[in-house]
Amino acid sequence: MLVSKNLAVNEQGHLTVGGMDTVELAKEYGTPLYIMDEGLIREHCRSFRESMDKYYGGQGLVCYASKAFCCKAMCRIMLEEGLGLDVVSEGELYTALSVGFPPEKLCFHGNNKTDHELSYALENGVGRIIVDNIYELERLDRLAEKTGRTANIMYRIKPGIDAHTHNFIMTGQIDSKFGFALETGEAYEAVKKAIECSHINLVGLHCHIGSQIFDIDPFVKAAEVMLTFIAKIKDELGFEVKELNLGGGFGIRYTEEDAPVGYDRYMEKVSEKVKEVCAEKNVKLPFILIEPGRSIAAPAGITLYTVGGRKEIPNIRTYVSVDGGMGDNPRYALYQSKYDVEVANKANLPKTETVTVAGKCCETGDLIGEGMPIQPVEPGDILAVLATGAYNYSMSSNYNRIPKPPVVMIRDGKSKVVVKRETFEDIVRNDID
Ligand code: LLP
Repeated sequence: MLVSKNLAVNEQGHLTVGGMDTVELAKEYGTPLYIMDEGLIREHCRSFRESMDKYYGGQGLVCYASKAFCCKAMCRIMLEEGLGLDVVSEGELYTALSVGFPPEKLCFHGNNKTDHELSYALENGVGRIIVDNIYELERLDRLAEKTGRTANIMYRIKPGIDAHTHNFIMTGQIDSKFGFALETGEAYEAVKKAIECSHINLVGLHCHIGSQIFDIDPFVKAAEVMLTFIAKIKDELGFEVKELNLGGGFGIRYTEEDAPVGYDRYMEKVSEKVKEVCAEKNVKLPFILIEPGRSIAAPAGITLYTVGGRKEIPNIRTYVSVDGGMGDNPRYALYQSKYDVEVANKANLPKTETVTVAGKCCETGDLIGEGMPIQPVEPGDILAVLATGAYNYSMSSNYNRIPKPPVVMIRDGKSKVVVKRETFEDIVRNDID
């Protein structure tokens, strides 16, 4: 079974993505190559939007977390699909603005934004600046005063939820660099302070409990904790928090072991809880935002490589090396994340081998995965790594001065380059000798 629904095998036994032959795409554009299926990306956007409308009655905005995969073409798709964008740096903000993204639909995150970044966001009328700490609030208030504006902000809150995910990508618990803690009273004091600031408009609260989460319960619990806090603010400070941003984090299927819940169910359960707590505590229903990243981009992407050498180490393992690696996909090196692989030109054959797929970087840990079931594989084959649409291109590097692969977007049987392959000229572009 192939992990994403846009994948299939054609009569030649080749893997297809969005109906297109991956072996042909590799021939046309070369490898390594990222492919993104625009049709599937758009489908994901719509299903999030529709479930928000269905269960929460249109009172919300789905913001794509652009850190998952950001380039101009992707921002344009989000614009066309009516989504907002979560940006987390001036670079992502710049990319969004460069395609004419409406600034009021942008959420600007970051735990250590510079004055330059904050001013840039203010000047461009970014809809919501997510403030992470008091130092940032004070600077933003001063910067807003200087430019004669009011900053619309949300506070990032740590709701104290354990989301059962990898340590590095778990963010909602107290020991996290992101946001204000609830338990210690820090968040409450910060709200009081924001209300007093004359150039700050506290529109809402935000939380994000982690990434690649499969359970619905932690999301529901987070919504409950956040609304309880909103009710406390109303009762004790007489202040109405109008918006609640519940972040992203919805899990996707990388391998058959993963069992993501339908996003519909997530929206249904979370909406139920929001309505229930609001009724119970006599709080107005907030405008809800969510920030899916991985779940929109990851299943829509695959990476194609050409297989080079094979190294059999008796009784230990077989290494299969490809022409990319941790430069274009650092996720195994960072998180031991699991992927499915296919020999794209033999995708109709059973997976009778188990191999370690290695990259070409000068580093032992440069692996795409270990113990990977695969079809019989030999030099010259095209190897496809599935579900690489999120946090691959966006986390890629030029380690070993290897140029980054291009991104090709496919739609309705047509392909186009949306990010060019880097050249060696690009590699030395900033060098001064
Ligand atoms: N909103 C906020 C504030 C976030 O920090 C993140 C992800 C998201 C939304 C989107 O989460 P998603 O829906 O994509 O799970 N590099 C890691 C993932 C880091 C996620 C960081 N924040 C990986 O490759 O797994």
